[in-house]
Amino acid sequence: MRLFIDTGSVAEVEEIARWGVLAGATTNPSLLAKEDGDPADIIRRICELVDGPVSAEVVAKDAKGMVAEGRALRTLHEHVCVKVPFSAEGLAATRELTDDGHPVNMTLVFSPNQALLTAEAGATYVSCFMGRLDDISVDSTQVVSEIVDVLRQSDTETEVLAASIRHPLHVVTAAALGCEVATLPGKVLKQMLEHPLTTSGIAQFEKDWESRPEFGEWLAGLVATTNAPA
Ligand code: G3P
Repeated sequence: MRLFIDTGSVAEVEEIARWGVLAGATTNPSLLAKEDGDPADIIRRICELVDGPVSAEVVAKDAKGMVAEGRALRTLHEHVCVKVPFSAEGLAATRELTDDGHPVNMTLVFSPNQALLTAEAGATYVSCFMGRLDDISVDSTQVVSEIVDVLRQSDTETEVLAASIRHPLHVVTAAALGCEVATLPGKVLKQMLEHPLTTSGIAQFEKDWESRPEFGEWLAGLVATTNAPA
């Protein structure tokens, strides 16, 4: 499962992109509204930092307006993927934009029916929100499982993107259910790093290595000779 970062923070993308694990990013009006600076610069900078699609969302309510905004956002950078909120107008806009060759991420999808319509409109990604479903006591695992199943049964290229990820278990669930992509806040990506046995293992290796100072000298010498200018 490919991992995207879900943020409007350039600093957060700069910090995490160097891990080499990001395949894309997603923004939305709420995430961008938290940031200082020009949205165009933020979106462009995130596109430069991640070597993959970066979702930028339209805010118009009618298909004509969504298409116009989508085309405009696509001029910012070749990595821009147009994010369209789910609605009948959104479906019409998705059909027109994807027919013109623009990638579309249909967002705010919460049911298999919405996902089926999204796929038939030709969307590149369908973003189903796990956290927001759980917030209203709807089992997100069940909904995402149904969405993956119904899209697998239909010959669609639309990929399932698990969004509104709140904790690392959502990531494992999305991967286990067969989602092609998950978009994660930086906080969750950092939580995924953690395991007490990894931390204690590194500390023990360090302690044991330092108990033999001659080993450190040997390795330093090897590094020096290996990296000496030719
Ligand atoms: O960016 C879309 C989505 O991941 C945001 O979800 O619930 O964290 O606002 P949420």
